[in-house]
Amino acid sequence: MQISILTDNTAGSFTKAEHGLSYLIEHDGKRLLFDTGQSNMFATNAGVMKISLKDIDTVVLSHGHFDHGNGLEFLDGGRLICHPGCFVKRYRKSDMSYIGLKMSKNELAERFDIHSSTEPVKITEKIFFLGEIPRLTEFESQTTPFVFEDGMPDFVLDDSAIALILPEGLFIITGCGHSGLVNTVEYARKVTGIKKIFGVMGGFHLKGNGLQTRETIKYLKENDVIHIYPSHCNDLPALAAFYENFGTGQVKTGNIYDF
Ligand SMILES: [Fe+2]
Repeated sequence: MQISILTDNTAGSFTKAEHGLSYLIEHDGKRLLFDTGQSNMFATNAGVMKISLKDIDTVVLSHGHFDHGNGLEFLDGGRLICHPGCFVKRYRKSDMSYIGLKMSKNELAERFDIHSSTEPVKITEKIFFLGEIPRLTEFESQTTPFVFEDGMPDFVLDDSAIALILPEGLFIITGCGHSGLVNTVEYARKVTGIKKIFGVMGGFHLKGNGLQTRETIKYLKENDVIHIYPSHCNDLPALAAFYENFGTGQVKTGNIYDF
């Protein structure tokens, strides 16, 4: 399995960065584009990395936020898998700034073959889109800084993830982790029937070093997770806690990981 970091919040030596996420995942004979960042940066970085985006099998959108899906306008089309709640108009409550997708569902449907599902989607025998993730823990996704157009709270129920089956166990890749990393991993276990967690990578939405970060670290330790790569929306206090506990490195654009 190979993961190429096309867009993330930290720049590599020759690749650029923005607040966003876009990873090319190659596994089980498929090439998946997981998110597109908020601009065409994923494509320009792919060019620098000499990675072709011509023969992508499927695009998977983790959730309907601008920093994960606005890059869709720079793709010609193809199959797009996402949760049906991705296309809603949504805002940051503090200043009512728009944080939903730039393109409407109709505009995207003109270009993509959209496969939206709240249920898990088995992309191959070894690759799963999780669909809507049940929120069961008491320390994750308890509050939200986001609202819908009508002012009602938006808990980003469309936030999903990819679970990959490797010989060593599950590898889970999250976009922004609005559902909570532990909720996501537990659901990946349920969907795939595999208990061993080999690795986790992506945005875990951990900001400070409070209860959620401490409980997440405890969970990863208890489950002997070997590869841990917090990126994108995780902030410095949480990243520092991960470094202290696991010696985690920094995920940068241009990095290519082989597992
Ligand atoms: Fe994000």
